[in-house]
Order: sequence, then structure tokens, then C-alpha cells
Amino acid sequence: MIAIFDSGLGGLTAVRELRSLLPGASYIYFGDTGRVPYGTRSRSTIIKYALQDMRFLLEVESRISAVLVACGTVSSTALNVLQENFDLPIFGVVEPAAAAAAAATKNGHVAVIATSATIASGAYERELKRIRPDITVTTKACPLFVPLVENGFTGGDPVTKMVCERYLEPVRESGADTCILGCTHYPLIRDEIAEALPGVTLIDSGAEAVKAVAPYCPAVEEKCPPRYFVSDDPEGFERFASLLLGDDWQSRAELVDIEKY
Ligand code: DGL
Repeated sequence: MIAIFDSGLGGLTAVRELRSLLPGASYIYFGDTGRVPYGTRSRSTIIKYALQDMRFLLEVESRISAVLVACGTVSSTALNVLQENFDLPIFGVVEPAAAAAAAATKNGHVAVIATSATIASGAYERELKRIRPDITVTTKACPLFVPLVENGFTGGDPVTKMVCERYLEPVRESGADTCILGCTHYPLIRDEIAEALPGVTLIDSGAEAVKAVAPYCPAVEEKCPPRYFVSDDPEGFERFASLLLGDDWQSRAELVDIEKY
């Protein structure tokens, strides 16, 4: 069984990918909807939250074989701390997304858009240059994207389009031919991002990470119904998840007091 977590709704884009790639996989999901966004917080707060998220998941479910940190902010800021503290395979989104982008770029110029914390960590840039030292990297923090998604400004909303245009102009001008969506919320406004970056190949970090974690889904296991946990507003989460994951989504979201962990 895979445990997947994010600061909020964004990690559901990885769940969507997991459900399509491995329909038989068992998983549980935690979205820290009471404390989102993480991406504007300090490193020590992000680490504290990520440790609490992990402790909760491992306490609520004993059959977890691997963890997917479906949050660019935690992946770039706290992954090594999690790996040092917990004895099971823990995957982030940075390495798989950087590998996919390095393979996709034709002109050797990759852009990364993500939360302020992810961009400040320099994690994507380091990983891209490790894979391909001659690569050019342009980065741009887009701190308004997560609140826009969490507040439902999706589906071609004109405000989101305007913010995309404003944030992504320097990315377009940079000449990068490939852009990593370094935050798992961003695929939810993929069309608006694509419109502001015509001709640029977009890399979905959550989807790439799912491919990396797939081999850790036991081939033979009893399929358990997924469980979803949130730290606030289960009904809002259920509405969003049923829209994103489709008609067969019949789960309930369970409320967690995450500060206890
Ligand atoms: N989905 C999270 C990420 O990938 C959003 C971060 C946030 O809560 O600001 O970075």
C-alpha cells in the first residue's frame, strides 16, 4: 500500500495518475487542508509539518510499503529529513520530474515554476545540473497559484489566466522549451499555464513521481478501498476529489487533528 500526502488538494493529481497507471494499487491519502499553503512558510515549519504528516500516516495504517510525497514544497525542503527519520522507501517529486525534463528538452533550457519555498531551496536546479551539467535553468516562484487552485479559480478562470500571464512572461521570454510544473497543484491549471507558454513542453512532477513509485506497489496484495484524510473541511475536499477523480469516487474524507502528531 502506498501512502500519499500533500499540503492540500494538489497531491490528488498524483492520485489521479496512480489510479490510471495502476488501477489495482491500494493507497491512502492525507491532505493538510487546515494548514495549506506550505510553500510560503519557513523551512523549519515545513519540516515540522512533514514529520507530523508522516507520523500520522504510519500510525493510521500499518501496511504502508512506500510513501509518495506528492508535494513539491516538502520534496524540495524536507525529503532528506523524512528519509533519515523513517525506515521505508520515501519518494519525492523532484528527481523524477528533473529526469523527465532533462530527457525532454531539445535546446537544453528548462524552466521550473513552483512555490516560493521550492524555488528558494534550489532543489530542482541542483538536480537538473547533476543530471546534465550544461543545462540552462530558469526558475520562477508563483506563490498565488496554490491559493487560486485551493479556492476553485480553475477551469479557465480569467483571474487565473491574468496571473499566469504575469508570472509566466519571463519564463516565455527566457526561451526554455520545457517547463517543470514543480508543484502538484499546478496540473489543475495546466491549460491556463499552457496558454501562457505556447510551444513549451510541460512536465507534471506528480505524474513523473508516480512512475517512480509504481514498482513499490506490491504486485499481489489485497486491494483495500482507498482512505482519504484531511485536517479541515472534509466536505470541500470530497466535492473537489469527486470532480477530479471521476464518478467512481465514492469515498469519504476523514478529519484528522494533525497537530497531535
Ligand atoms: N502541492 C504543494 C506543492 O507541490 C503545494 C504547496 C503549498 O502548499 O504551498 O508544492
